Amino acid sequence: MALLADHLKRVKPSATIAVSDKARALKAAGRNVIGLGAGEPDFDTPDNIKEAAIKAIQSGKASKYTAVDGMPELKEAIVRKFKRENGLDYKASQINVGAGGKQVLYNAFMATLNPGDEVIIPAPYWVSYPDMVLLAGGTPVEVVATMQTGFKITAAQLEQAITPKTKWFLLNSPSNPSGAAYTHAELKALTDVLVRHPHVYVMTDDMYEHLTYDDFKFFTPAQVEPSLYERTLTINGCSKAYCMTGWRIGFAGGPEPLIKAMAMIQSQSTTNPAAVSQWAAVEALNGPKDFIPKHNKIFKERRDLVVSMLNQANGLKCPTPEGAFYVYPSCAGTIGKTAPSGKKLAGDEDFVTELLETEGVAVVQGTAFGLGPAFRISYATKTEDLEEACRRIQRFCGNLK
Ligand SMILES: Cc1ncc(COP(=O)(O)O)c(C=O)c1O
Repeated sequence: MALLADHLKRVKPSATIAVSDKARALKAAGRNVIGLGAGEPDFDTPDNIKEAAIKAIQSGKASKYTAVDGMPELKEAIVRKFKRENGLDYKASQINVGAGGKQVLYNAFMATLNPGDEVIIPAPYWVSYPDMVLLAGGTPVEVVATMQTGFKITAAQLEQAITPKTKWFLLNSPSNPSGAAYTHAELKALTDVLVRHPHVYVMTDDMYEHLTYDDFKFFTPAQVEPSLYERTLTINGCSKAYCMTGWRIGFAGGPEPLIKAMAMIQSQSTTNPAAVSQWAAVEALNGPKDFIPKHNKIFKERRDLVVSMLNQANGLKCPTPEGAFYVYPSCAGTIGKTAPSGKKLAGDEDFVTELLETEGVAVVQGTAFGLGPAFRISYATKTEDLEEACRRIQRFCGNLK
């Protein structure tokens, strides 16, 4: 009898982790490698958040299990966050707190998907979405948003993708990997479609809510179309805006029966997220937020630098995204050309491999996110390194024959 379960055959390891591993191996071999693959801010967790955690440890508040899906103090802080920042009214009983946004998404899929249930996922998408859906027994339905529509799907595309088997429409704005964020009008066009299909639930991953630039105004679907509130799961977390990827706190607000089911999944897998991290999250959500615009000013400068330098590289085309800390240039103009090693670039995977091997710059191929030929750059990296990496990309593209 085979040791490993059949459901493992449905999923693949994360492409972003594969690139990081390769870059690490080259670094260990003494190469000068600049990694632009990581999806986390390079800034440290703010001091007030760290201090709240230290205090919780010292006072013994972090020693014991808490309620499975979040302690009351944190749920209250999340209730206030949804009201203050999104105009959404949730009760504490409508909140799930998990070990990162990833666990919250996983809880939701495990709690709701039956075999054959479809989840509409706009591409390019965060690598984990289709695999999570597959692991939970569902069927991912990809809807491709091209550069021409700013990497955003249209109402007509959404309408066309909905079938009687559609369980969820999954939205991620601002997006990992494209940085694209939907305006109020663009969201309204999508929510108008959803209003006409009452069997479709809405899962919105708002993880990059606070990371938008140029006066972009963020909205979430249940805020744009209040009639969707009853069938929307609004997911967010502390990882990105609060520079807390290592702390592992994500959360969601949604219908009580769903939240209860998600808590049950969590109670049989991990129990509560680390108590110390929950106390840190209370401070993050209730405390001062002045560091966010400071970080965003730096992110915006980096975004503009990277977009400008990439658009000067032969064969690349890079739109300016509204948010997150990613850009998603097309490398269509380089496909079919030959790299200095003699390798002909057949697709974006070759582009990324040759770029890493000849110039020591690690990026992730677009096909991993469901739309190529393109690649993702994370600009959550020191500005000097970004500048040097872009110079190397320009040189690499210039040397293609
Ligand atoms: C779009 C998106 N959703 C969710 C997550 C998961 O975040 P967390 O680290 O809180 O699990 C990420 C992390 O990269 C992400 O990019």
